[in-house]
Amino acid sequence: MEKILVKGGKKLNGEVKISTAKNSVLPIIAACLLCKGTNIIENVPMLEDVFVLCEVLRTLNADVNIDILNERLIINTENVKNIEPPSELVKKMRASFLIMGPMLSRFGKFRITLPGGCNIGTRPIDLHLKGFTFLGVKIDLGHGFVDASANKIIGNTIYLDFPSVGATENIIMASVLADGETIIGNCAAEPEIEDLANFLNAMGAKIIGAGTDTIKIFGVKELKGVVYRPIFDRIEAGTFMVAAAITNSAIKINGINQEHMRPIIAKLSEMGVILNIYGNSVIVDATRKLKPVDIKTMPYPGFPTDMQAQIMSLLSVLPGTSVVTETIFENRFMHAPELKRMGADIKIDGRSAIIRGVNKLTGTEVKATDLRAGAAMILAGLVAEGNTIINDIYHIDRGYVEIEKKLKGLGANIERIME
Ligand code: UD1
Repeated sequence: MEKILVKGGKKLNGEVKISTAKNSVLPIIAACLLCKGTNIIENVPMLEDVFVLCEVLRTLNADVNIDILNERLIINTENVKNIEPPSELVKKMRASFLIMGPMLSRFGKFRITLPGGCNIGTRPIDLHLKGFTFLGVKIDLGHGFVDASANKIIGNTIYLDFPSVGATENIIMASVLADGETIIGNCAAEPEIEDLANFLNAMGAKIIGAGTDTIKIFGVKELKGVVYRPIFDRIEAGTFMVAAAITNSAIKINGINQEHMRPIIAKLSEMGVILNIYGNSVIVDATRKLKPVDIKTMPYPGFPTDMQAQIMSLLSVLPGTSVVTETIFENRFMHAPELKRMGADIKIDGRSAIIRGVNKLTGTEVKATDLRAGAAMILAGLVAEGNTIINDIYHIDRGYVEIEKKLKGLGANIERIME
């Protein structure tokens, strides 16, 4: 079994290159189902989640060429058939459910396994289904499946109860080829939504307002294939910013969009980290004493839940008390017991974690309980005394491109081991 071994205590220096956002690439792959031409997606992070979704498309008879050498995907969905994708594949990754919107748009009906919950919460899909229903789709739920059908997808006004990222993406994709106009109110405004809309607009869709809380989609007749390069991964960039902060180092990070990073930059600045931004690069200087801050996760442009675990590792070693409140997922503190095993002082009280900074963490054997929790363990390992061994690193591989190699390039003592 593969594990990551981190020998703590090294300062970081040098430069690191950020990959393209997995959370942009996944909906963009799903959106390829909407167009019968060939799409080329460039700078694709070669990650497990990307491979799983490509496999889902292949089971629908799409032609998917994963060009690992040139980091691109060449996708043609002309021969896609209305086939039910294998349950094992859909259950492997919740984001597989993003094919529902495009498949409904294309065939007017589709059947797919209900995606299950996952480590960070129950993660229902009621908002996706509510959106589809407003577009004239009849939904039948039963025996673990979603059966959906519509004579025609017809534009409508939908107001989401919560700005769900996946539901917003699925509704956009279901409505780009609809009859008439769709308005999604209280929708998610994450940069990845804007990226999906930019991709669809490049293909010929008419979407305005993506990146705000109201999106308008004017149905068009068809979409054409394009070449597209998605945005940088703001969560990976944030993780490396925290890597600099937790080791009191100064590093350069290449591949950021300042606007997308605002919520993360604001909090790190409040802690005393100096961030000098030049175009798509930032020099992160965390060589002075940092102070703890309180953090509450919120939909964008609030502080991202996907950075909560990593920031908790940092707060664990800053003198003073901080409170981290998780408002997006109901069960996203599984990294806390793992950090406590390393000596962190964390008390969970409902949706909040009260963290009292300790002088040092001590390396031990811990688990990556989910993707970002795994990154948090690596970060804690960078500053811990002795060796930290991280198990279940397949979670980390779902979302970080060669994280140990990138950290090694910055001078960390880290390696992937086989045990
Ligand atoms: C996406 C991201 C994930 C990130 C999350 C929140 C991808 C592939 N994943 O996940 O990394 O952590 O956004 O920023 O882009 N909810 C409902 N009903 C629904 C849908 C969601 O109650 O129909 C709830 C969820 O249970 C959760 C909250 O809304 O508590 C946020 O979920 P959502 O924004 O949909 O996250 P995902 O799209 O699954």
